Amino acid sequence: MIQLSRPVLGSEEVAAVAAVLATGRLVQGEQVAAFERRIAELTSRSHALAVSSGTSALRLALEALGVGAGDQVLVPDLTWPSPAHVVIELGALPVLVDVDAREWNTTPAELTRVDRARLRAAILIDQFGNPARVRELAEALPGVPIVVDAACSLGSHSGQEPCGASGAIACMSFHPRKVLTTGEGGVCLTNDPELAGRLLELRNHGQRSPGTFARASGNHRLSELAAAIGVVQLARLPELLAARAALAARYVDAFPELPRQHAPPGARANHQTFGVLLPSGLDRDRVVQALRARGVESSRLSYALHELPQMAAASAAARARGETFPNASELAQRGLALPLWPGLEDADQQKVIEAVRAVLN
Ligand SMILES: Cc1ncc(COP(=O)(O)O)c(C=O)c1O
Repeated sequence: MIQLSRPVLGSEEVAAVAAVLATGRLVQGEQVAAFERRIAELTSRSHALAVSSGTSALRLALEALGVGAGDQVLVPDLTWPSPAHVVIELGALPVLVDVDAREWNTTPAELTRVDRARLRAAILIDQFGNPARVRELAEALPGVPIVVDAACSLGSHSGQEPCGASGAIACMSFHPRKVLTTGEGGVCLTNDPELAGRLLELRNHGQRSPGTFARASGNHRLSELAAAIGVVQLARLPELLAARAALAARYVDAFPELPRQHAPPGARANHQTFGVLLPSGLDRDRVVQALRARGVESSRLSYALHELPQMAAASAAARARGETFPNASELAQRGLALPLWPGLEDADQQKVIEAVRAVLN
């Protein structure tokens, strides 16, 4: 089976983990500090706080901004559900908005029905690593604190800055399907020392200093073992990105007729996920099965949140505003993710291309 995704891990990662084990210091040590320094440099940020997942990063970001019960937080409708889940977990309401048909991210055009004055924060997503128009969106949402969900976009560039560089707080994930992995892991990025201080407390049981608790919070720390993998992966990042770009370009050449995601003018995506829109009328899940029968793993691309049962309240509120989600619905129904990861051999990619052609014809 040709896998949909697979991290590139080698003897350097093994050696880095072994070295940490030999020190006996498995938490809150040098590796986390080194990983944070390098991620901050890469994203042009003053503060990077490594955490246990991208979802933890989002939750801590919203808590640091004071989001709580009864608040409203903007969330794009097309996504893996975690940004909306953390809003709900905090007792707040996701204000769902559609995405653009070309960029598959929310753009200012989708904000017309949103009551900006009621937003406590806005989550903007660089979906599948494609840079969102964060600066334009922030201008369209004056006074609203922006959290950028850059879970997928390490190594992408908006044209003005690296992804993760903008927003009051940007959050990344280092899950194995991302361009760089620490197993599980994430990071909060900010330039604001006060927010960085709050995030530091929230990450570590609410402690302001050892044994002094400023608030009740959980444990969202990243381990030294995970950070050591991340440090090695960061050194590989340029080659990982180049391999992804080459694979994506081959898919683009192979399937010129299938709609795909486009970066905004001047921006560069990291190709964390390569998705296509299948011709309408085809059953996507049947296509996934047919590809599996030919030895190719593929999957649905994403979810339209307003269609999910746990989003009933957000969906009802959106309906009451007259909001519709034609693009997110279409992408959720017809979107297919194809295998793309840096170790994917040319011959295997060719097999994927031939299998897709055979199934679609
Ligand atoms: C857009 C988006 N946000 C957040 C997350 C959550 O990241 P994690 O799996 O590290 O919790 C994901 C994970 O796939 C994602 O795609």
